[in-house]
Amino acid sequence: MTLPELSAYVAAEFQKTYGRPPRWIAAAPGRVNVIGEHTDYNDGFVLPMAIEFYTVMAADRPVDGKNVITLRSTFEPEPAVIDLAVPVKISTPKWGNYPRGVVAGFQARGVNPGGLDVFLHSTVPLGSGLSSSAALEVCTATLIEAVTGKTIDPIEKALLAQKAEHDFAGVPCGIMDQFISALGREGHLLLLDCRTRKTELVPMSDPAVALLIINTNVKHELGSGEYAKRRAECEAAARIIGVASLRDATPDQLERAKSKMTDVVYRRARHVIGEIERTVHAAEGIRQSNWPTVGQFMYASHASLRDDYEVSCKELDVVVDIAEDIGYKGGVYGCRMTGGGFGGCCVALVKAEAIEAITKKIATDYKAKTGIDAVIFSSRPAAGATIIKA
Ligand code: GLA
Repeated sequence: MTLPELSAYVAAEFQKTYGRPPRWIAAAPGRVNVIGEHTDYNDGFVLPMAIEFYTVMAADRPVDGKNVITLRSTFEPEPAVIDLAVPVKISTPKWGNYPRGVVAGFQARGVNPGGLDVFLHSTVPLGSGLSSSAALEVCTATLIEAVTGKTIDPIEKALLAQKAEHDFAGVPCGIMDQFISALGREGHLLLLDCRTRKTELVPMSDPAVALLIINTNVKHELGSGEYAKRRAECEAAARIIGVASLRDATPDQLERAKSKMTDVVYRRARHVIGEIERTVHAAEGIRQSNWPTVGQFMYASHASLRDDYEVSCKELDVVVDIAEDIGYKGGVYGCRMTGGGFGGCCVALVKAEAIEAITKKIATDYKAKTGIDAVIFSSRPAAGATIIKA
């Protein structure tokens, strides 16, 4: 579904649910990270793009004038209800905590959205490493901007959404997902310096190449606990090396400190330090349309995430192996897992003319090796969050 189609669908569902048309509509995209994994919370660089898959919310004031936000969705029968007369707290259903956290963030800034009836739908596959949660948070924030007529700086919006995820969903995520959902630009990747929060748009519109997203359709449970553990291991490494964050550490410094750290902490740091460098080089490769070089950095990133950072899994490795087998001759430049890991998606850089053959080959071989059906699609870099109706 294109964004206008999706928006029309959500408006129609709003009408069916509440018996009148919506007054406001807002959208925010999911993302795929091309390279720079587990670097954001180490003050490093990331290179994501927004994808043409979105969360869309339609809203109106409730007819009874109550100071309550009711969110109904296509993915769960139970609505999420936020009573604005009392302090906003974590509650059930669980998915409602993302919008709850965002509402709390606006309240903390003295902005009260007031009562709302909301209907939402998302084409971002849930829980597959494409930032469905960031899309939900940033969409809520964008809807509140539409409703109140008070827009906030997109960087502040991303930080507000990240805080919602920390405080209301209990996930100590970095800033990548919310940033790209808020700041994405059509036809561009976003090179984000997570320390200074400076962004640079990197054009990616060469019609000869495409990005394929391969959803392994598995999600291993260890995800969130392991994420927090990785963060702590990185902090330990930085402390031992004597730097504020791994962004400041060089490979030499790491080698010199090696004897003072456990093998695990050493390997975590080696991944992060190498990945920050790969990301900067890959961005340069993209600027120069040097696709074979970009592809090599993607493969190297995957190997490092698999062996040193240990956030891959069998299914992600199977996809990357198949991609490597197809190889340059078959039209694949590079492939890697994307997002937090332990399942979810891979991203592959491919020759546009070979998309169909590559998709077929990955789907067939993946099914043969794992027994699971992968979902494979491509996306051009999309625009970030927008108010569709104000
Ligand atoms: C998740 C987090 C991001 C980032 C990635 C790993 O998507 O939300 O902040 O840390 O994992 O790169």
